[in-house]
Amino acid sequence: MNKKARLIKEVNDNIEKTKELVNEDYHRLKYHIMPPTGLLNDPNGFIHVDGTYHLFYQFHPFDTSHGLKFWGHVKSPDLVRWESLPIALTPDQWYETHGCYSGSAVNKGGALTLIYTGNVKDEAGNRETYQCLAISDDGVNFKKYKNNPVIHNQPQGYTRHFRDPKVWKKGGSWYMVIGAQTIRREGRALLFTSPNLKGWSLVGEVAGSNLNNLKDFGYMWECPDIFEMDDRDILIFCPQGLEAQGDFYNNIYQAGYFVGKLNYNNGKLDHGEFTELDRGFEFYAPQTTIDEKGRRLLIAWMGIPEREDHPTTRYGWIHAMTLPRVLELKNNKIYQNPVAELRTLRKNQIEYRGIEIRDEEIELKNIYGDVFELLIEIEVIDAVEFGIKLRCSRDGTEETGVIYNRKTRKLELNRDNSGKGYGGVRRCSLSSDLQLKLNIFSDTSSLEMFINNGEEVFTSRIYPAKTSKAIKFFAKGGGIRIKNLKKWDL
Ligand code: FRU
Repeated sequence: MNKKARLIKEVNDNIEKTKELVNEDYHRLKYHIMPPTGLLNDPNGFIHVDGTYHLFYQFHPFDTSHGLKFWGHVKSPDLVRWESLPIALTPDQWYETHGCYSGSAVNKGGALTLIYTGNVKDEAGNRETYQCLAISDDGVNFKKYKNNPVIHNQPQGYTRHFRDPKVWKKGGSWYMVIGAQTIRREGRALLFTSPNLKGWSLVGEVAGSNLNNLKDFGYMWECPDIFEMDDRDILIFCPQGLEAQGDFYNNIYQAGYFVGKLNYNNGKLDHGEFTELDRGFEFYAPQTTIDEKGRRLLIAWMGIPEREDHPTTRYGWIHAMTLPRVLELKNNKIYQNPVAELRTLRKNQIEYRGIEIRDEEIELKNIYGDVFELLIEIEVIDAVEFGIKLRCSRDGTEETGVIYNRKTRKLELNRDNSGKGYGGVRRCSLSSDLQLKLNIFSDTSSLEMFINNGEEVFTSRIYPAKTSKAIKFFAKGGGIRIKNLKKWDL
């Protein structure tokens, strides 16, 4: 058996061996992409071709830690129902002995082509980094390009933290943005170009720490992505090494964007301020694609590096993808909403209108659950604080708080009493303190909250007990009116 066949057999054996344990876990999600076993991290190769969405993912099939990475592969006709396909990339070549790291996909003349980072570490821990291609005629089986790697290590002045190529085509040329680090330990995004995906040349630095008035902005930038929206160019990236500042940058690493204008001749992005894409606890390495309907879609890892102590590890698996989101640009800010296709999951609609709550906490008949979508529009009468408690236990020990405070004008997600797993609080300011619209997606162990039509999003894992299903509404220091509330089981 060759190395690839041997590794694939080991993966399949391990999936088989751990299946029973994995499936015993109540916290397995019902409508999110998860690994069959082991660890999932970044989304890779997100693309829509011939009516099919493909998503690949960083996959460590042998353990719930970050080890030897493969590319897992799922496909879907509608971004809702995903089918699992055979492993797309197996680290079986000399240029990827320590994993097939993150990258992207393009459609090159009908051939689905993956561009990814081959990661190599020698015994002394020294890293080599190779950008590579793998090509498929059938969208399922991928062949590594025979002259891989197409980029050997990093350009001068940078370290071997050089990875995560995102490729697109513009005006007959291919472009690649890639995450990098200068020898002075400054994060960078670099632009390369190629006529054929095989030979690449450096165009220049797109943006970076201590470039263009951006002071001390991280020691490494991972997973960059560049795309056009309404005549602007957006750079998404994940800076590592930012200090927390009030409500900002509270997770270990960030994921956010610049809006600007990219100069394709020298690579420079003339950009504004950095904005975080998500205000919750678990969100990293987002990747976008434009689909055949012309929508800019985003999926991210619903996890974060160096936080591997989630309760699911006892069942042999960890992490998941976020729901797919549609992006729109309004006044230089990205608005994010769940894709409309998710509405096909809705069952058993319950609706309420015009409910006033004043200095009390209430429950509403038939409004409870663990796997549901909630759409709620609240109008403030004179309450000082109000909100919703989700996944509450009967004995009152477990609850996840979504609380708006009109004095601070901030919305808070509190998972200190959510059950097992990490606790903590995240907050953000909102533009209006008189109206609040929440679209909440709850799964067995996750929450995604889209606020005020996508102005902000909070994405988090929580691990309440199976029986913690009550939902409570409260107002303090005055009243609120729930104008409209709809709940569906998903
Ligand atoms: C981001 C990341 C990437 C890398 C991959 C390895 O989470 O560290 O930079 O390619 O994960 O799995």
